[in-house]
Amino acid sequence: MQKLKVKGKNILSGEIKVSGSKNATLPIIAASILSEKKIDLKRVPIVKDVVTMCHLLKYMGSKIKINYTKKNISINNKNKKFKNVAPYSFVKTMRAGVIVLGSLLARFGKAKVSLPGGCAIGTRPVDIHLFGLKKLGAKIKIKNGYIFAEAKQGLIGTQIKFPSISVGATENVIIAASLAKGITYLKNCACEPEIKNLTDFLNKMGANITWSGKREIKIIGCKKLKQVSHQIMFDRIEAGTFIIAGALIGKKLKILGIQTNLLNTEIKILRKMGVKMQIKKDHVNILHSPKIKPVKIKTEPYPGFPTDLQAQIMVLMSKAKGKSQIKENIFENRFMHVPELNRMGAKIYTSGNLSYIEGPQNLNGAEVMATDLRASVSLVLAGLIANNQTIINRVYHLDRGYEDLEKKLRKCKAKIFRIF
Ligand code: UD1
Repeated sequence: MQKLKVKGKNILSGEIKVSGSKNATLPIIAASILSEKKIDLKRVPIVKDVVTMCHLLKYMGSKIKINYTKKNISINNKNKKFKNVAPYSFVKTMRAGVIVLGSLLARFGKAKVSLPGGCAIGTRPVDIHLFGLKKLGAKIKIKNGYIFAEAKQGLIGTQIKFPSISVGATENVIIAASLAKGITYLKNCACEPEIKNLTDFLNKMGANITWSGKREIKIIGCKKLKQVSHQIMFDRIEAGTFIIAGALIGKKLKILGIQTNLLNTEIKILRKMGVKMQIKKDHVNILHSPKIKPVKIKTEPYPGFPTDLQAQIMVLMSKAKGKSQIKENIFENRFMHVPELNRMGAKIYTSGNLSYIEGPQNLNGAEVMATDLRASVSLVLAGLIANNQTIINRVYHLDRGYEDLEKKLRKCKAKIFRIF
């Protein structure tokens, strides 16, 4: 099994170009099923989850070409024998596989999609997805671990207020409603920029979707969608991760290829912590930031602080002079990196969904275990500032969502290597 070896204490400097967003790419690939025409996607991060989503579509009958150097994907879903089934083997490794449910139902009136099951950071049910699709007229049954959904006469537009905010459910229902008869009004939607990237993509294909309020969307259903070429937005979480890396051990580290107006909350919090940054429209320069201050934060749906950056900012909090606090409001079991960080010398206590971080602590290299995608990268960050060497096991979690992480960090003088 592959491991990462990180030799700590090397000052990062140089430039890091952020890749396209994994969380924007996955629903967009799922939404491509709506059309029989050719779909071209640019700035696609070629990470494990994206490749798994491509394999799922190939299994169903899509023709997909991945250009690994240019980071482009070309999709053709014109296949008379398209299978409207998403098997367990795909959905178990990548929960976002469940997003094909909306597209399959909208295009074929019928779908069989595996339930994703639990994952390390929590139970992650799909009840809100099914609630929305039922409102659009789908008949849904759960049997043998599969969701069987049917809308023989097609989906019908209606008013839906989501009982709570879910990124995936909002995406699934937007995709399904794009081809529904009549108008759909959605309330209490998630409004992550990745969902806006999805609605831009669908509108370019000929859908009629407007954001009528911060959490409200109006969708006028249409009959067919056309050929499209679309550029994926930058990865907000990757950008945030590298900005935190710069705050921890950077000296003139430039993070580019981003839109800083979509990182307002993160920038505000990092500024409050004493991180020295020059913020431009499409890049951030992180300067040497020796005095880090403690803060109290909570994770929330966008525009709040993202749960996907919680583990990374915790490492920065361990460098702050005083006691910081994190309240995790999105997932119930997302502090699994804490024992590993403590093994490296951090002083973190958890109680329910609260974490208290005492700093400043000097971290020491150790052999640690990655438990999920974002937890893995927090261990890389810890390794970058620790004395001696850190070995991170189970790096396959990292490969699900970070494109060329080691290469990008090495270019900025980090000593990070993969051991096979
Ligand atoms: C997406 C992101 C993930 C991020 C998360 C929250 C992708 C591919 N993944 O995941 O990186 O951490 O948003 O920003 O974009 N829930 C239910 N029932 C449902 C759906 C969700 O109870 O039907 C709960 C979840 O268990 C969780 C919360 O709602 O506690 C938010 O989940 P959701 O926003 O749906 O996250 P994902 O779309 O799975």
